Amino acid sequence: MKIIIIGGDGFCGWPTSLHLSKKGHDILILDNLSRRKIDIEINTRSFTNICSIQKRIQTWNSLNDSKIEFKLIDVAKDYHKLKTIIQEFNPDSIIHFAEQRSAPYSMKNEDTRNYTVNNNLMATHNILNSIIEVNKNIHLVHLGSMGVYGYGTISDVIIPEGYLDVKIKNKNGQEQIMNILHPSYPGSIYHLTKTQDALFFQYYTKNWGIKITDLHQGIIWGLHTEETKLHPNLINRLDQDSDYGTVLNRFLLQSVCNEPLTIYGTGEQTRAFIHIQNSVECIHIAIENPPPMNDKVKIFNQMTETIQLNKLTSIIQKIYPDTTLQYIKNPRKELIKNNLEVENKQFLDLGLKPIYLRNENFIKEIYNELTKFKGNFKIESLQPSSFW
Ligand SMILES: NC(=O)c1ccc[n+]([C@@H]2O[C@H](COP(=O)([O-])OP(=O)(O)OC[C@H]3O[C@@H](n4cnc5c(N)ncnc54)[C@H](O)[C@@H]3O)[C@@H](O)[C@H]2O)c1
Repeated sequence: MKIIIIGGDGFCGWPTSLHLSKKGHDILILDNLSRRKIDIEINTRSFTNICSIQKRIQTWNSLNDSKIEFKLIDVAKDYHKLKTIIQEFNPDSIIHFAEQRSAPYSMKNEDTRNYTVNNNLMATHNILNSIIEVNKNIHLVHLGSMGVYGYGTISDVIIPEGYLDVKIKNKNGQEQIMNILHPSYPGSIYHLTKTQDALFFQYYTKNWGIKITDLHQGIIWGLHTEETKLHPNLINRLDQDSDYGTVLNRFLLQSVCNEPLTIYGTGEQTRAFIHIQNSVECIHIAIENPPPMNDKVKIFNQMTETIQLNKLTSIIQKIYPDTTLQYIKNPRKELIKNNLEVENKQFLDLGLKPIYLRNENFIKEIYNELTKFKGNFKIESLQPSSFW
């Protein structure tokens, strides 16, 4: 297959590009490198030593038969260039990772709120607009977020994969069943853009019949995939700061650096998780199983388990008993405590083999790898700097 990966220099996009290239697909990465620029803006860096995109690709292409290409483009700003690239490359699928993906960054100030809305919505719309102009048969796979469902907003419900059957009374008082998109309960401007993406997708499938898969992904943990391990130049980024550092990876690097794990609030929040290796496998499965044309948006819950944050810290403390904890005031507006159960039957039925957090070897592998980068630790990045 020919696949364009937009946002292919990022934390999810880079290992996905390698995984799909290893499977023999022709990959073209598009990225504006904005994630690297935001590191400079907020005075942080990847905990791991990542290479330039050029060096990454040069290394991969010297190791692998299928080659990866790269083009620098801002897909939110340069619609015509994007359309031309899609016309020329003629992809079967486009994978869209190219969004500002930090909830805290999106809530920092008026400029980051504006940037997140402009970037994410225009990127998504420009991609959809190009597909209907160039070739309606292109399958679009988008990375959404579990956060669009809210966390525990509707109590005691197992979150379904995107859609809900609801009963609606007609004017005669008779009940009719209707299958609707799950209501959205965004907790940040970033999550709000994901819920808006979902409406774009619903409209574009209804009006033009194009094939769209939306993956509501949980929080990723882990660093390496089978492919990023193949050469030091291929290493993935790992965010250490309070804006972009996701919870389990941040806890692990705090433990490696002998810092207390900073837990927001009481630590009774439950979240959904998936290992980065499973994430790239899910995207491969999604690419191979597009919905038919003129169908509704295909939605998967891309997560393998839910776990309370206090349970996460106890997993780390069990393996590394010297790890200490520090409870700090929650900088976010969210429920103090929530339950979360999520259906993920579609990926399991299509063959996904989950990597669970109880598998200590995976935690130990990340921990050992992170010890190599202790010198890159920026303690000042750890304390929350966005409050809402
Ligand atoms: N990391 C997670 O735990 C996680 C969890 C759930 C969902 N997601 C979703 O997965 C996707 C990828 O996340 P990530 O962690 O890899 O983020 P990331 O910030 O590491 O990667 C995003 C990439 O997109 C690029 N980009 C952003 N705007 C662009 C634009 N206008 N034009 C071209 N390139 C642009 C960035 O430079 C970056 O390389 C996001 O949509 C995110 O919401 C991530």
